[in-house]
Formats: sequence, C-alpha cells, structure tokens
Amino acid sequence: MMDIQSQEKFVKVEYDSPGVAWVTVSRPKALNALNSQVLSQLQAALQVEAVRPETRVVILTGDGEKAFIAGADILEMKDKGSDEGVYFSQLGHEVARLLSQMPKPTIAAVNGFALGGGTEMAIACDLIVASDTAVFGQPEVALGIIPGFGATFRLAQFVGLPRAKELIFSGRRIKAQEAFEMGLVNHVYPLAEFKGKVLELARSIAQQSAPAVSRAKQLMNEFQEVCGLNLKVDAEVHAFGRIFGTPDQREGMGAFAEKRKPAFTGLESTSV
Ligand code: CAA
Repeated sequence: MMDIQSQEKFVKVEYDSPGVAWVTVSRPKALNALNSQVLSQLQAALQVEAVRPETRVVILTGDGEKAFIAGADILEMKDKGSDEGVYFSQLGHEVARLLSQMPKPTIAAVNGFALGGGTEMAIACDLIVASDTAVFGQPEVALGIIPGFGATFRLAQFVGLPRAKELIFSGRRIKAQEAFEMGLVNHVYPLAEFKGKVLELARSIAQQSAPAVSRAKQLMNEFQEVCGLNLKVDAEVHAFGRIFGTPDQREGMGAFAEKRKPAFTGLESTSV
C-alpha cells in the first residue's frame, strides 16, 4: 500500500488576503509536468479550495520562472496501454473540470511553458494572464498522440475552430503576444510585474459579491452544456486511450525520452 505521508509534495497552496488562493504546481526539475501524483494532488487541493469559504478566487500557476506546466508527463505516459491512457485522461479531465466548474473564478497565471496539458489546464480556467515569457501550444501530434485534457473541444472556444485546428494539427508553439492577439489570454505582462498584476486582477474579483460572481460563472458555463461540450470529454478520453500502444505513440514518446526526433510510420495498428 502506498504511504501517502511519504509522497513528495508537488502542489503548494498559499493564501493572499482578501480571498485569493495560489495553487502552484511545483515540480521544477520536470518543468512542472503533470504525472499521476501531481494530478491527484492538484485534484485534492482544488477540491478543498472549491468549498473553502474564505477562498473567493483561485490562481493556478507553476513554480519557477521557466514553466507553467510543460504538459502531461511524457516519461510516465510512454509505456501506457489503452486502459491506462483512459484512466490518465480521466484524471486530467477531473482536474480541468474542477477548474472550469468550481463555483469560484479561476485564473491561470502562465509564467513560462504551457504545452499540451499545460495549455489545457490554462484553458480550463476562467481567465488566463500570461507573462511575456509564456509559450503556449498543443504539441501532442509530435508525440504520436492527441490532446487528452480537453483541447479538442475547449481550445476552439478561445481561438475559433480554424485556429484551434491549426494549433493542434501542426503542434506549433505560440508566444504570449500571439496568444493575446488570438484571444487566448486576457492580459500579457512583463515577468517582473506579472505576479503583482495577477494578484490585482484576482483582488478586483474577490472584493465583489461572491454569490453574484459565482452565479454569473455558472450561467456562462451553462452555454457549454447547451453545446454538449461535456459529452466531448468522454469522446476525447476514449480516443486518447485508443492511441496508446500504436507505433506512432511508442515512437513519438520514445523519441522524447531518448532526446531525438521521431520517425513516424503512420500505421494505425495498436500492436507495438
Ligand atoms: N514530461 C516529462 N518530462 C518533461 C516534460 C514532460 N512533458 N517536459 C520537460 N520535461 C523534463 C525533460 O525531460 C528534462 O528532464 P531531464 O533534465 O531529466 O532530461 C527537463 O524537464 C527539462 O526539459 P528540457 O531539457 O527539455 O528543457 P528545454 O528548455 O530544452 O525544453 C521544453 C523545454 C520545450 C518545454 C521541452 O522540455 C519540451 O518540449 N517538453 C515537452 C513538452 C510537451 O510535448 N508537452 C506535451 C506533453 S503530452 C500532453 O500534455 C498530452 C495531454 O494532452 C494530456
């Protein structure tokens, strides 16, 4: 049985008055990449903040100055089979669901690389504020997989379907300014003043009527229900799972682990 006490702590929660909680993903050696442990700790931290009466706004950020979240953990994913892929995607979706649906506004403070699951956690938040060093992107196809934490249906809500398709099909990375011009982020600030500006925004929300803000969030989210977006979660989870074990998934993730360029075969079979 795993001893929870002995687990490394990958998520820090700090409070700024009045009513602001900073939830920080802290795994700097792997650029804050999301493995199962980080995702479970994030889920637990967000569940607490969702109901903690003093918390009125939640800010999600990454430890250090290099990365917000450099995606899901490729080294953990690389040998997964279909069922494990499904489970991993469900766990990521649960974290994204909490960010998107908790009855309090959530702000992604993107302070560096936000790739794959990193951009997906950002777009699950209500608002995105980026430092001028931030880099967004969905590089999954370069790893032989598809996005698994919500980009196949959430990204288009921010940037429109043609741009979302371009970003997902090409895996192209975009800098903060381009992300701002596309409508992905609310504000871009120089890194030196970034944290203060995020806090200013959070406080400007925290001082409003909490039930009114919460009701407004709920109503605006109901639009997503009308579009059937929640049904898309299951579709993405299963498509993500099915891609595990294919030759291109093994090659793409193996290449990342071996720090080389992948040579895809394009075969669909699930045999390895
Ligand atoms: N998973 C696991 N480890 C990662 C990681 C990831 N997503 N991103 C970075 N790391 C690790 C690297 O392996 C490296 O570890 P070592 O020092 O032990 O070798 C360390 O973090 C530092 O990374 P780099 O040396 O690569 O740093 P860099 O400055 O040269 O490059 C980077 C930075 C461009 C972000 C590069 O690390 C990178 O491309 N990372 C992968 C980004 C990515 O593809 N993300 C998507 C993952 S798939 C996904 O998220 C699927 C989904 O939808 C759920």
